[in-house]
Amino acid sequence: MLYGVSLGPGDVELLTFKAVRIIREADEVIVPGEVAAGIVRGFREPKIVEFPMGKGREVAKKLASEIVERCARERIAFCCLGDATLYSTFSQLAEEVLKLDPKVEIEIVPGVSSVFAALAKMKVFVTKSILITTDFEPEVVAVMKAKRSREISERLKKEGYGNIRIVQRLYMDGEKISEEIPDFADYLSIIVGVKR
Ligand SMILES: C[S@@+](CC[C@H](N)C(=O)[O-])C[C@H]1O[C@@H](n2cnc3c(N)ncnc32)[C@H](O)[C@@H]1O
Repeated sequence: MLYGVSLGPGDVELLTFKAVRIIREADEVIVPGEVAAGIVRGFREPKIVEFPMGKGREVAKKLASEIVERCARERIAFCCLGDATLYSTFSQLAEEVLKLDPKVEIEIVPGVSSVFAALAKMKVFVTKSILITTDFEPEVVAVMKAKRSREISERLKKEGYGNIRIVQRLYMDGEKISEEIPDFADYLSIIVGVKR
């Protein structure tokens, strides 16, 4: 099993219980630099694998080849700052591991992204929409309050988004992730579309 563990923006108190449990229980914990290591050291000593700017893919490939076989029988946790789904070194590592062995199980432990930590610090509330980007061209759209789910998914399709899925009641009883978009959905639903 390969875990992508989100460490949050820098305050140890912003780790989730799940992240701490996996850090403690994993057979090996790897971090992409000294800042992440500083957070993890509160729980155990991690192995540091530096991902210098521009060399991410190269480092990810090498690390993937070193850990891929172990992922079948051990729990390897790769921890990154903020949330592991957002511009993370973990995305490159997971991609390279799956290229070598598509059967490796991957679990991502979500966490507090620097984006939401920044909004919280500045007391900025999102009431309509937020664009998180590095280049102003959204590639992933997450539509919240997605009760009018069919209408939303049709609009996403029209705008060129694919791989449209609805997630309902995440981490709760009745959790459902599906490509079949109902006409109307539970209030606790998010529709995600991807343009690549
Ligand atoms: C490679 S991305 C990683 C983002 C991370 N996965 C997240 O969810 O926050 C690095 C960028 O995240 C932002 N970032 C991460 N941690 C931050 C912090 N503690 N304070 C301010 N910005 C931060 C900066 O814009 C930085 O250039």
